[in-house]
Amino acid sequence: MTNFDRSASRAQSASFKWQITNQPEHYDVTAMTVADMDFETPSFIFDHLIPRSHVLGYDAVDDAYFNSIINWQQRHQQIALQKDEIIPLTGVLPGLSYAIRALSQPEESVLVFTPVYNPFFAAIKGAHRNLLAFDLSLQEDGQYHIDFEALEKVFHSQPIPLMVICNPQNPSGHVWSKEDLNHLIELAKHYNSRIIADEIHQDLVYNPREFTSFLTLPEADQYGLVLTAATKTFNMPGIKNAYMLIKDATMRDQIQAIISGEFGDDTVSTFGYRATTAALTYGEQWHDDLMTYLDHNRHAAFNLFKQSKITAMWPQATYLMWLDFSATGLDDATIADKLVNEAKVELNDGARYGEAGAHWFRLNFATQTAQMTTAIERIIHVFG
Ligand SMILES: Cc1ncc(COP(=O)(O)O)c(C=O)c1O
Repeated sequence: MTNFDRSASRAQSASFKWQITNQPEHYDVTAMTVADMDFETPSFIFDHLIPRSHVLGYDAVDDAYFNSIINWQQRHQQIALQKDEIIPLTGVLPGLSYAIRALSQPEESVLVFTPVYNPFFAAIKGAHRNLLAFDLSLQEDGQYHIDFEALEKVFHSQPIPLMVICNPQNPSGHVWSKEDLNHLIELAKHYNSRIIADEIHQDLVYNPREFTSFLTLPEADQYGLVLTAATKTFNMPGIKNAYMLIKDATMRDQIQAIISGEFGDDTVSTFGYRATTAALTYGEQWHDDLMTYLDHNRHAAFNLFKQSKITAMWPQATYLMWLDFSATGLDDATIADKLVNEAKVELNDGARYGEAGAHWFRLNFATQTAQMTTAIERIIHVFG
């Protein structure tokens, strides 16, 4: 059993998440922001980084990489893949940018479901597409839902050649159901739209919630693609590797043409493909242990917030917890200030994920349980 209680000491380091602790006045802040984990990346990944030749030359991604993805996706998501249906990428975000450029034209609308992981906005606007934000509805069960009647009206009123769905959802940890995804495919069929499914958090779904990967649905392959990676699951986003799963040959050719025509082929790095290969080949046990630890943190964090004014959305997946601070009656700037200066905890402000995220903050609980508990206790002490 991996010891996730061992601290990875990231304060005052180059870690993006822990940058705040490099400011002398904030050296003692607990950073619970950026979506990586405070756990050591598993050793079997480090062991596999260096090629036998000890030459870091230009490498062609090998069959071991493709086979590790094919086997992992078959085992975990029940998707049958061929090698040529996998496009190696330097990240999910670069993949998103290529797909936006290939599957829509400048000035056309690309729809996202907000609140959502904010770099989606930059990718759409940066490609000179029209960003169309469709707000998710908060239902009595405390989870997000898509109001399909309202969504159909939006499709009816204007051409929308492309939508992006984040599943599992960042920032809320919500998992979209088979019915939700089938509904989106129906809309895509009817209104000639395409779907990009960002499934980078697909391996972080807690039992008993079932996860349906987009490409397992009938006809999905004609209407969209999946972007995913081993980097979130195995805590190695710094190696910059991801992959696109795309079955439709026409869409695939369009995307490949953009990658080789505009982005100099964007071949992946040696460390990147080797790390992914090792993770997906040797990572089953580590992944099981991780999910057990994260699930324990999920329950502990949720139970702590139950005794406070802050309402937590129950994450069905991910190590992100979406917190509603509305009952504190404070504005977002004041909440952020009190978090860092009084509670000594940094969270992500929800408004960055879209207007619907105002008064919400995102907490990353992928850290040692003791550190998480004391940080949440400090938050509750300050906000009640
Ligand atoms: C939903 C989602 N998509 C994409 C990314 C970034 O992926 P990459 O580092 O592979 O570009 C993240 C990272 O937090 C994410 O949460």
